[in-house]
Amino acid sequence: MTTRFTINGRAATSEAEGDTPLLWIIRDDLGLTGTKFGCGIGMCGACTVHVGGRATRACITPLAAVDGAAVTTIEGLDPQAAHPVQQVWRELQVPQCGYCQSGQIMQTVALLQDFPQPTDADIDAVMAGSLCRCMTYVRIREAIKKAAAAMAPAAAPGASS
Ligand code: FES
Ligand code: FES
Repeated sequence: MTTRFTINGRAATSEAEGDTPLLWIIRDDLGLTGTKFGCGIGMCGACTVHVGGRATRACITPLAAVDGAAVTTIEGLDPQAAHPVQQVWRELQVPQCGYCQSGQIMQTVALLQDFPQPTDADIDAVMAGSLCRCMTYVRIREAIKKAAAAMAPAAAPGASS
């Protein structure tokens, strides 16, 4: 069966079995290796992509589940890798080894869609499943807050404080 979907805005098809993990299609067939394999059981977040705009663990998502869907990987977040979250990540030098960071960024973008000004509790709840063996959690939290501020709508013209 042919599975049809879009990947980073481009049409894609796959003839792989419908139960093939989306992660293998992304990395091995489409060559988009920014999305990482960590645990393979949905427990670490390294493989996080967006499906229909929602953060999704590609390692436990069967190919058949994305038939007709829009898939976005770290490569598709911004053509210049200049999404505000990516800019803040660089500014604060968040990554250490970097392995988990594409997943952290994809999860953060989804977090900020749901919680534009997240509290610590929001961050804890949403980011708990995104693990970092290098323990960059303090920088990740700082970066999330800085990105939220950067992405906040500007104050209305004429507004005074
Ligand atoms: S590799 Fe998918 S959650 Fe760990
Ligand atoms: S930066 Fe190394 S695993 Fe997160």
